[in-house]
Amino acid sequence: MSLFKEEDLKNGSVTLSEDGSAIVILDQTRLPLHEVYLTLRTKEEIYDAIKVLAVRGAPAIGICAAYAVYVLSLPKAEMDYESFAAAMEADAEYVNSSRPTAVNLSWAIRRQMAVIREHADKPVREIIRLLKEEAIAIHREDIEMCAKISEYGLSLVKAGDGILTHCNAGPLATSKYGTAIGPMLLAKERGIDLKVFADETRPLLQGARLTSYELTKAGVDVTLICDNMASMVMKNGWVQAVFVGCDRIAANGDVCNKIGTSGVAVLAKYYGIPFYTLGPYSTIDMSCPTGDDIHIELRDPEEIKKMWYKEPMALEETKCFNPCFDVTDHSLVTAIVTDRGIVYPPFAENLKKLFGESGDVSADSFGKQHCE
Ligand code: MRU
Repeated sequence: MSLFKEEDLKNGSVTLSEDGSAIVILDQTRLPLHEVYLTLRTKEEIYDAIKVLAVRGAPAIGICAAYAVYVLSLPKAEMDYESFAAAMEADAEYVNSSRPTAVNLSWAIRRQMAVIREHADKPVREIIRLLKEEAIAIHREDIEMCAKISEYGLSLVKAGDGILTHCNAGPLATSKYGTAIGPMLLAKERGIDLKVFADETRPLLQGARLTSYELTKAGVDVTLICDNMASMVMKNGWVQAVFVGCDRIAANGDVCNKIGTSGVAVLAKYYGIPFYTLGPYSTIDMSCPTGDDIHIELRDPEEIKKMWYKEPMALEETKCFNPCFDVTDHSLVTAIVTDRGIVYPPFAENLKKLFGESGDVSADSFGKQHCE
């Protein structure tokens, strides 16, 4: 049964504007108190929106990038094919350089650039029409994949269970349902009660600002905790499973996700709690051998020292280390929940069975750039 409805394409955190000339995003930096929509038309606006996390979450970044290639093609309709392809290549490189870690960004751009290359014999206007079709297909696929992931995820828990999650992997970060949050929303729809613990997720507070906002609005029983409280709620026996999203999964099953995820996985192992990561095939990078090969984004120290506070909480000269993601070793992962099924260890073998030797995220120029 497909949970996809045509209107889902219009209701997400990333959509195409009514007239089809721009991307409309819900500005995630303003949540939870302000629901502000931004209209993005230029490559600079798109780059900035991704960079500052106005649009964030691996799949949502991928959907945004897919629409970006289409929207940026519109003013180039009068060009000949060679100039069009070269200009699109330059725009795509620029948008792709906005953030390095989530593989969905390069994956979606690669899909769109393939449309341009494969239809070199067609008029540019026709290629632009095909880019729109492909962007909508990527968006639609994500909605369908999230629904499948949510079903698989829900099969791993039962009524009354406590689930701990880190960062935000809900509809805001994807499309309908989300990945790690999907089973919780699906459970609610089906009258199954789960108790969710949301890590606040320092330093950008995606858990506090986004996960608890989404779950509260959906009527799910959610309790917000600081990151350093996860051990206590686990020790108290309140957590039966950990569900987290992912930004890139390497071929050996190492999981790259929001900074702090690996610590949660270590705790889960200690307390004997299953640790699941949930993500679509577009997040699995079979061209990346291990987590050591993933480029981890480093962000501005101000996010630790100043952001969220009335005045700085550390001296100007205090050194900071602000990695945006970490890698959870595959030995700590109970299973990887994908749209194609639940993958158990040995991951290197089982991921290969499901996603092939090279996977769907191949190491072309866009993919390779960020997997070193
Ligand atoms: O820096 P962010 O907020 O983009 O990081 C997002 C995450 O780490 C999510 O857990 C991940 O992208 C999965 S979203 C389905």
